Amino acid sequence: MIRFSDVTKSYNDDVVIKDISLLIEKGELAYITGPSGAGKTTLLKLIYAAEKPDKGQIVVAGWDIGKLKQSTIPYLRRNVGIVFQDFRLLNNKTVFDNIALALRIHDMHPKEIKKDVNAVLKEVHLSHKSQIYPQHLSGGEQQRVVIARAMVSKPTVLLADEPTGNLDDKTSDSIMDLFREINAIGTTVLLATHDTSLFQGTGRRVIHIKNKQIAGEEIG
Ligand SMILES: Nc1ncnc2c1ncn2[C@@H]1O[C@H](COP(=O)(O)OP(=O)(O)O)[C@@H](O)[C@H]1O
Ligand SMILES: [Mg+2]
Repeated sequence: MIRFSDVTKSYNDDVVIKDISLLIEKGELAYITGPSGAGKTTLLKLIYAAEKPDKGQIVVAGWDIGKLKQSTIPYLRRNVGIVFQDFRLLNNKTVFDNIALALRIHDMHPKEIKKDVNAVLKEVHLSHKSQIYPQHLSGGEQQRVVIARAMVSKPTVLLADEPTGNLDDKTSDSIMDLFREINAIGTTVLLATHDTSLFQGTGRRVIHIKNKQIAGEEIG
């Protein structure tokens, strides 16, 4: 589902990722971890085509990222949902509209949009908050809306960058449960975190990056 072959990426002249090869299978839920500055966010951005590799090949859901035309990127992004810290909710729109916006740009019929938004709200256990504005939600609820927005286009891959960064332990646990539920319906899930407590005891694959390279793997 996601394959890196000898991928190198630098910013200006600083190499951030060097000759990384990696395979994430369809249906996996895996973690990328490493210290701050290790390149976790960059790795996710490469998958999402927000950055291009300098060298090597990246294939995501059948697309060769390095060869994508600008006009094809929206099609990739219907298939790759993202939960990134810098993609905030719009405070002047309701929960429903924040999620619907992701579909409106796809030119869908309003009836279809309503059906899909309500279905995804149910999945994230927020049906009762549909008409609420984001600033009236707790941090955990806001994160659920962000996840719903990423899931509404039914992506085959879901990427999340430090998804529990601003949440307390109990709320983090429930967000991690949600990622497991999303994975259980067949979505490939890749989570980047520096927080080792998120994957300890999960029995899932954990990929460590350090010094620009994959430093090893373990089962969490
Ligand atoms: N847009 C950018 N321009 C220049 N340097 C960047 C940019 N994004 C990240 N970096 C640098 O790349 C390195 C890896 O960053 P990042 O991928 O954000 O790591 P992590 O998510 O593991 O903390 C850091 O040294 C960071 O300063
Ligand atoms: Mg990061």
